[in-house]
Amino acid sequence: MPCRIAIDGPAGSGKTTIAKLLAKTLGIFYLDTGAMYRIVGLYLEKSDVSNDEEIENKLKELKLSFSDGDFFLNGKKVGDEIRTPDVGIYASKYAKNEIVRRYLTKLQREIAENENIVVEGRDIGTVVLPDAEVKIFLVATQEARAKRRFKELTEKGVKVTYEQVLNEIKLRDKQDSERNVAPLRKAKDAILIDSTKFSIEEVVQKILEVVKEKCKLL
Ligand code: DC
Repeated sequence: MPCRIAIDGPAGSGKTTIAKLLAKTLGIFYLDTGAMYRIVGLYLEKSDVSNDEEIENKLKELKLSFSDGDFFLNGKKVGDEIRTPDVGIYASKYAKNEIVRRYLTKLQREIAENENIVVEGRDIGTVVLPDAEVKIFLVATQEARAKRRFKELTEKGVKVTYEQVLNEIKLRDKQDSERNVAPLRKAKDAILIDSTKFSIEEVVQKILEVVKEKCKLL
């Protein structure tokens, strides 16, 4: 039986750092589904699509693949251009669209099928992998998340202010939790962890205990 670990939560809850560290510790794959929404969001925004039919056609032209931890868009490796706050907004905007979600959900299931894998996102435990062996829902206050995200972005050399980051988080929380399709919410059987109360290592330890109980990996 594979061990699929679903980690969901809002922007800046520490998901990425925790999911990556967890995958590394366990020596298993890591899939960042937010990156997929960012790639598609940027692509559709650039394509200037204005209705579902155009979105559907554009997605048919798109070749999105995943290999060795990297995404490739029409054969070209995707880099940090998808990490800006603007692209976060495009991702969230197109993540509301049913066609986009159907397209990416299918791809995510194909990648995760029968793998030992940590999958990070918003709807992994609820929609993408409802029968995942381990489900975690990470939360933290908007201010704590904005602080973390601001540090991350400035360290990468992205020019933003703390206020911009906080506003972006507030806007995305609203869009992500109020949308009709696959809104951000905790799966009934997910374990809730407040990452403001613990260090990254403590959160990873907590998840490892659950993995030990549910999977044969450890
Ligand atoms: O995790 P992130 O900040 O890179 O995600 C970017 C956006 O993509 C986020 O605002 C919501 C959307 N998203 C989603 O709707 N479902 C997912 N499984 C992952 C991300």
